[in-house]
Amino acid sequence: MKRVGILTAGGDCPGLNATIRGVAKSLYVEFGEDVEIIGFSDGYRGLIGNDCHLMKQSDFSGILTSGGTILGTARTPYKKMQVIEDDMVDKVSAMKRTYRERKLDCLLTLGGNGTHKTANLLSENGLNVIGLPKTIDNDIYGTDFTFGFHTAVDIATDVIDRVHTTATSHKRVMVVEIMGNKVGWLTLYAGLAGGADIILLPEIPFEFDRVVEAVESRMKGYKPFAIVAVAEGAMDAAEAKMKRKEMLRLREERGETTITNRLAAYIAEKGDFDTRTVVPGHILRGGSPSAYDRMLSTRFGAYAAKLVGREEFGVTVALKNDRIVANKLSSVAGKTKKVDPDSQIVDTARRIGISFGD
Ligand code: F6P
Repeated sequence: MKRVGILTAGGDCPGLNATIRGVAKSLYVEFGEDVEIIGFSDGYRGLIGNDCHLMKQSDFSGILTSGGTILGTARTPYKKMQVIEDDMVDKVSAMKRTYRERKLDCLLTLGGNGTHKTANLLSENGLNVIGLPKTIDNDIYGTDFTFGFHTAVDIATDVIDRVHTTATSHKRVMVVEIMGNKVGWLTLYAGLAGGADIILLPEIPFEFDRVVEAVESRMKGYKPFAIVAVAEGAMDAAEAKMKRKEMLRLREERGETTITNRLAAYIAEKGDFDTRTVVPGHILRGGSPSAYDRMLSTRFGAYAAKLVGREEFGVTVALKNDRIVANKLSSVAGKTKKVDPDSQIVDTARRIGISFGD
């Protein structure tokens, strides 16, 4: 009998349930009655607290299209994993104990960068772990795409499409802030797909005045409106020179978490344009996964089940040149995949006249 633990950790995103389903269906095809799937509640919190249940085949039915996660999730920061806090719980020992007590053969962890760091830590501690790369940010090293990303691109593109009408009717500048944590993948893809005029990414620090110039030239053109897509992690050139802590401290003093409102105010004042800010926020992570993500989730899930059968652990599944492969957790954990400012996609954007404000 194989006993496979599964958990979803970090921020939720579309495709988690489709991935869980892909894993489960493949495990049942391969092992039939000889497999038990144990679902942990709320990510690593469930593993630490031994909060889990034996799942039934019917639990995996009808979830291909559903958003969020049927297992629940929580953020249990990696940096605190090896720290004993007020509750006096040694988290790593507790997770190892649960794994032993539940007689698991392996543990599947669906999550982003933080989840992968903890997965690697558990692997180094002797547990059999397989990761699956989830996040709308698309920032996991070693995979071309993460599941959840394309759905978020579709939603963010729709937001940009929709603000076009108000921008056109009122001759306004619409500044749209897009999630993505410290990287600009989501903003770059949605900005290109939605026809933004200016795209601001953390990887390409911008100058306020260059942005205003780009807006001005757009407003003087044959269609006087402008769409600015700003990644939530975007920063200007002055901030980019600072230590992150210093930058965050200054932002806190200003009462801001992102640069978006300051930029919008600057565009409105310096350029004297009617400017509005739109922040779709968690809407970008909501609802049903796109067809692309259902496919990718299913492929990732089925491949992870194959790795369970092969007893290949200490790895995470990945998409490389349209093939699903396994990368070592140790080669992925702690690294972030960023947009390369010299990449072909950034060049494409520049070639069609999109400004990066630099
Ligand atoms: O990592 C996914 C993400 O949506 C980021 O884009 C964003 O910065 C963060 O999570 C928001 O986190 P929370 O849901 O905890 O507010």
